[in-house]
Amino acid sequence: MARRFRLRSLPGSDDEVSESNPVIDRREFMRYSFNTAAGVITMASLGSIGFASLLMGTADSSGGDTAVRFWVPSGAEDSVWYGDRHLESMSYSAFVNAATDSPTGMVGAQGVWSGLPVNVMYVPHTENASTPIATDKPRFQFMDGYTESGKYVGSGYELEEDPALAPLSIHDNLVVIFSRCTHLCCIPGWQLVQNDFTNNQWTPGAVDAGGNKLFCICHSSRFDPTAIEKNRNRNRSTGAEFDYIGIRRTGGPAPVGLPLIPWIITGDTIEALPDFKDWYTYCD
Ligand code: FES
Repeated sequence: MARRFRLRSLPGSDDEVSESNPVIDRREFMRYSFNTAAGVITMASLGSIGFASLLMGTADSSGGDTAVRFWVPSGAEDSVWYGDRHLESMSYSAFVNAATDSPTGMVGAQGVWSGLPVNVMYVPHTENASTPIATDKPRFQFMDGYTESGKYVGSGYELEEDPALAPLSIHDNLVVIFSRCTHLCCIPGWQLVQNDFTNNQWTPGAVDAGGNKLFCICHSSRFDPTAIEKNRNRNRSTGAEFDYIGIRRTGGPAPVGLPLIPWIITGDTIEALPDFKDWYTYCD
């Protein structure tokens, strides 16, 4: 039987799950999300999958600050490690602790930051980077990025070489990823769908198989959160192209990967920074 997802109220809404927050299955989710603009409007009117309809910088009752917060999809409360932390600020130590229960040392969580959907991924890079590269020894990998038509865009190594990209430098074994699919703007999940792409396994080289992918339930695009590369996309409103540092699209209809979001630790709280807002406009 198809897995069903119960929709949530928008942050700040008084509505709890009700007739206006129906249960949908994957097919229905695709229909709501199929056309970006119409999908967002439909989602907003439903009070639905939530943060997809909010805008950068929009304050909400439980956020509106720099903190990245957990977002627990309805129905996933008992199946994800952060199931009892919906809309709590993400602490760095929560990821470190959760990683101890992972066979790969890799954990991730859905989140929301300033109204934007994000995925936060912890990768035991520091522990593994000095060992021979091997299956289930995950680490960040800098790679070459190409356009949809195969034209070379640039290298993930530019993250270390271009001072303008310094806020994005990989640190503390963790990355924050803008989570709107570059296909039709659905929100990829981290291990919310169980299949060969999302198993808690890691394979070097950002190959499509091998597990630990962000998986978009709409049309099955996959993204490797450990593969850092340079991508190119365009502002959907203006058509203006921009290059960005992000993670690799490994399969499915999405044309390119997802952008990174710079982040810092304040105390133990994971906070994101709005340095590269133009990168998050391909669904506008
Ligand atoms: S929106 Fe189509 S694969 Fe993600």
